[in-house]
Amino acid sequence: MEKGELLAFCYDFYNQHLLHDQNDDILYYQNIAANLKPKKALVVGAGTGRVAIPLSHVANVEALDMDQYRLARLQNKRDIKCYCMDFCREVPNEVYDLIVIPYSTIQFATDIKMVEQFINNARSILSEDGMLIFDVSSNFESKKPTKNLLLFEDYAKEIASKITCSMTSAKLENSMSFETEFAIERFNTSVYENETYLYYNEAQFKECAKRHFKKIEIKNGYDNDNQPYKHLFHCRGK
Ligand SMILES: C[S@@+](CC[C@H](N)C(=O)[O-])C[C@H]1O[C@@H](n2cnc3c(N)ncnc32)[C@H](O)[C@@H]1O
Repeated sequence: MEKGELLAFCYDFYNQHLLHDQNDDILYYQNIAANLKPKKALVVGAGTGRVAIPLSHVANVEALDMDQYRLARLQNKRDIKCYCMDFCREVPNEVYDLIVIPYSTIQFATDIKMVEQFINNARSILSEDGMLIFDVSSNFESKKPTKNLLLFEDYAKEIASKITCSMTSAKLENSMSFETEFAIERFNTSVYENETYLYYNEAQFKECAKRHFKKIEIKNGYDNDNQPYKHLFHCRGK
């Protein structure tokens, strides 16, 4: 297995272990798609398909991510049209009625200008009355930094090895960075996942969204009280 494939596998393994309440977003997006009945929907930052696959059971879904290995895993699970591209730089040559950017993917932006690129690019491929939904998390600023915090240890059948997953995180001026280590016993090696999330500033995010959309509604949580620090931007119209 190449390093990229191994990392994509570890990412899936992590999701199975740790994303409990986070999966609340799936039903939320499924309900929206069921009401909106989009001709075509796009999931941006689809990863290995945690949201895109269940959404594809209620709508015609395409998936976009900049990581080819994650998309390859997604396509092994379900035949969904995938685009491997950086959404800040290019967009599919298609029109969508619904675009979902889940799981704080928009906070991968290094600054607010890049957030605006995500929003502007989404607008450019949305139909006239299409809807963009993205979620952001406001709890990065209050999270405590960690050093080699053990998250879980488990046996992974697919690679016939025990995996030990631990996390080191750091607070930066505008963002929080996370390094997740996956120690793979069988190969006597570790692979590392690095992610940095921009802190959420509601006024700035709203301002960006307003420059490209007429109607902005911000909802908290996924229609329940589990995660009040998750904010869902519903953006419509020019
Ligand atoms: C936090 S993960 C979310 C993955 C999956 N949607 C989920 O909910 O579990 C963010 C994903 O967005 C992708 N991503 C981040 N910035 C991107 C960009 N500018 N263009 C395309 N994909 C991006 C990453 O490769 C990663 O797979």
